[in-house]
Amino acid sequence: MLKEEIKNLINTVIPIKVDFDIEEPEKEMHGDYATNVALILAKQLKGDPIKFAQQIEVKLTRLMAKKGISLFEKIEVARPGFINFFLKPEFLQSQLKEILKEGDGYGKQEIGKGKTVVIDFSSPNIAKPMHVGHLRSTIIGQALCNIYKALGYNVIGDNHLGDWGTQFGIMIAAYKKYKSLLGGKKITVEKMLEAYVKFNAEIEKKPELQEVAREEFRKLEQGDKENRKIWKTLRKESLKEFDKVYKLLGINFNTILGESFYEKYSQKIIEKALKKKVAIQNSDGSIIIPLDKFNLPPFLIQKSDGATLYSLRDLAAIKYRVKKYDPEKIIYVVGNEQSLYFEQLFRAAELLGYISYDKLVHVKFGFVLDENKKKLATRAGRFISAKELIDKIIRLAEKVVKEKNPKLSKKEIKKIAEIVGIGALKYADLSQNRQTNIVFDWKKVLSLEGNSGPYLLYSYVRLKSIFKKAKVKKSSFRKFDPGLLIEDEEIEILKELIKFPEKIEEAGIKFQINLLANYLYKLASLVNVFYEQIPVIKAEKDLKISRLALISAVLIVLQNGLNLLGIETSDKM
Ligand code: ARG
Repeated sequence: MLKEEIKNLINTVIPIKVDFDIEEPEKEMHGDYATNVALILAKQLKGDPIKFAQQIEVKLTRLMAKKGISLFEKIEVARPGFINFFLKPEFLQSQLKEILKEGDGYGKQEIGKGKTVVIDFSSPNIAKPMHVGHLRSTIIGQALCNIYKALGYNVIGDNHLGDWGTQFGIMIAAYKKYKSLLGGKKITVEKMLEAYVKFNAEIEKKPELQEVAREEFRKLEQGDKENRKIWKTLRKESLKEFDKVYKLLGINFNTILGESFYEKYSQKIIEKALKKKVAIQNSDGSIIIPLDKFNLPPFLIQKSDGATLYSLRDLAAIKYRVKKYDPEKIIYVVGNEQSLYFEQLFRAAELLGYISYDKLVHVKFGFVLDENKKKLATRAGRFISAKELIDKIIRLAEKVVKEKNPKLSKKEIKKIAEIVGIGALKYADLSQNRQTNIVFDWKKVLSLEGNSGPYLLYSYVRLKSIFKKAKVKKSSFRKFDPGLLIEDEEIEILKELIKFPEKIEEAGIKFQINLLANYLYKLASLVNVFYEQIPVIKAEKDLKISRLALISAVLIVLQNGLNLLGIETSDKM
């Protein structure tokens, strides 16, 4: 990768080791890449940055000549001490052949070879509909899985289902009480939630019911046959509904253990934590892990009534994952609202000696809001569920597709509407800074113009159709002259194309998928300008083949890039 190559070259010619950046300047006059290395050296060694920059420039030029590296047209020193690099068109052109050769594999890397990452994502709670927050986790988590796989990591995608906890005492009590209401065999999560809410309202009126629920949970914990069976039904039916969402979104997990799996490890963890004096028992019987030295409130792992908690099961999950996978990182894709919780969890895990703090990452995200900055709701005022949101976007996408291309068959419309709707949804999520709340403007999300999923998908379709119209054989691309691509628009596109692997890496390592999404948007925009300004099909034969080769490479990058985001492409739209 170019940035890395430039960095390595610089490192061999500078007198001391320093930390510096290679940037992509906004302004064209500052080159394709630029570095602040001379400024940093000058600061540390107390000298003139311009002089350092000039020395580096001379040494670099000499080194590259010796090594026969021919990347740059010129290297320039600029005030107050930057070094700017201008790529050579010949180098860019030569890369085009490489991209075409790599095809589907273009962008794949090996930096993660031999390393494992666990990605904890989606993780809805059973016996409740999956909500929009879980949808974000699902979309972001899947994209991270794809990106880390492309970087060569062994990826374990884990759906940490919320399927245990004292609330299941209430759920079971409700199940028994309102069995007929739950609809017998056709039990749905909606009805489960309804029964749960109803029972909770009862508890308000008759607090003694609390004890009934507690007893049901105790029985469940102790393996009571009937309660186990009810719990299993709730879990199974919930998963069935979640699977509908996963199927529509094209999501796969490597493992779905859920919180319940870790219950059996809980007591041992508590015992050891107490013995190690990492945890202490309060006079009321509750157990906490004090975290004052990190300026954090204590981490509660067991309540005074002896009930174990979400937190304890998460500790158990860390221990289990470390032992099973020896991961380089465990990545949690969960909303902003659990920031403090994860901070505590990570510190506690380190105190217990499970794993070092820096290997644990909370990839957090904001809410999804409507145009009025309120959480998305149905007309009845209830929060919209993940499935409802997906159904709605597909319905709206169908209109867009019909308008754009009325000649499509019903079946085609349905299929394409799914691709466009889900692509729009995923892109709206992934193209923004994940920590800010997403304002979900249906029109904008589905617009064929601007920075949207449909725009990218449509750009892809357009490029494909140029190919179809051009009617050239695939074999023509075996021999083409990339040296004919000399227009500014073409060079700009080439410059973007070679950045693709770098962008994947950046998006993955920084957990900023929007860097990759917005890169694809930029590429699509450049290619649309190119397409309007420069004749392709009408160009003279050799030029036509070269330009088609360029388009072919853009298609490769768009396709590979969108797929990394979890977005499927379609040849028609
Ligand atoms: N089920 C949890 C919730 O809905 C999210 C779980 C996230 N993963 C974890 N290991 N804590 O809030």
